[in-house]
Amino acid sequence: MSEMMTLPQTPGPIGIFDSGYGGLTIYNAIKGLMPQYDYLYIGDNARAPYGTRSFDVVYDFTLQAVKFLFESGCHLVILACNTASAKALRNIQQLDLPNMDPARRVLGIIRPTVECVGDVTKSRHVGVLATEGTIKSMSYPLEIRKLFPDIEVVGKACPMWASLVEANEHLTPGADYFVKRDIDALLSRDPQIDTIILGCTHYPLLLDRVKQFVPQGITVLTQGEAVAHSLQDYLVRHTEVEAKCTKGGNTRFYTTESVTKFKEQASRFLNCQVQAGKIVLV
Ligand code: DGL
Repeated sequence: MSEMMTLPQTPGPIGIFDSGYGGLTIYNAIKGLMPQYDYLYIGDNARAPYGTRSFDVVYDFTLQAVKFLFESGCHLVILACNTASAKALRNIQQLDLPNMDPARRVLGIIRPTVECVGDVTKSRHVGVLATEGTIKSMSYPLEIRKLFPDIEVVGKACPMWASLVEANEHLTPGADYFVKRDIDALLSRDPQIDTIILGCTHYPLLLDRVKQFVPQGITVLTQGEAVAHSLQDYLVRHTEVEAKCTKGGNTRFYTTESVTKFKEQASRFLNCQVQAGKIVLV
């Protein structure tokens, strides 16, 4: 449980958090759809990947990032990380927000992803590729069944994928081995799957590789568009939150690792130069 905090009350940027570079795929889609807002991005690259970490550790790290974003003026924070959405979101919303500031909001990315699945699958068999933490949490099957009880869901953890992206090794023959192995394992468990959710924000960086190994006729879903549209809709419905989001069209990036490395990698992922600062999360 968090202590009462004194937080800035003036409007501020929208906070976006991920364990590392993966959340940039979500940021990119959000910024593309709503360039007018200011954003503050944190990649906890020094402690990535989160995928194999315990519930308590992911919760602690995510809470530290949320506090940092709130203290930096954000009133709305998006956990652009499935692992954090699966393991930390509920606790933060229910236990911490009431103490920190009940008017601030923290949103995850699993629900908006799941909402579009019903329209995509014809066979009603859906596969999920994600981190070990997300798969073990059962968040995807649980959320999908709430909305679409007729859909069968099979998940497969891909323990190497996020690490390959963080290490910039994702476009190598070595990465192909793991991508093919995990896709084959998923499809062998349910050959009727016609839709695969890439349920980790790092995985769009592997999208071309994934498509190479997925048989024709299977749709591969990434999360950026769905999350961006859901956020836009949220801001229309919650004018009191929207009014607290500044509109200068600027983004600040922070990393817990080397700034030089972050700038290099992020610039490649976003196809433009970015400036970044270093922070320590405690
Ligand atoms: N990008 C994150 C996700 O969506 C986590 C990857 C990791 O740190 O393991 O789950």
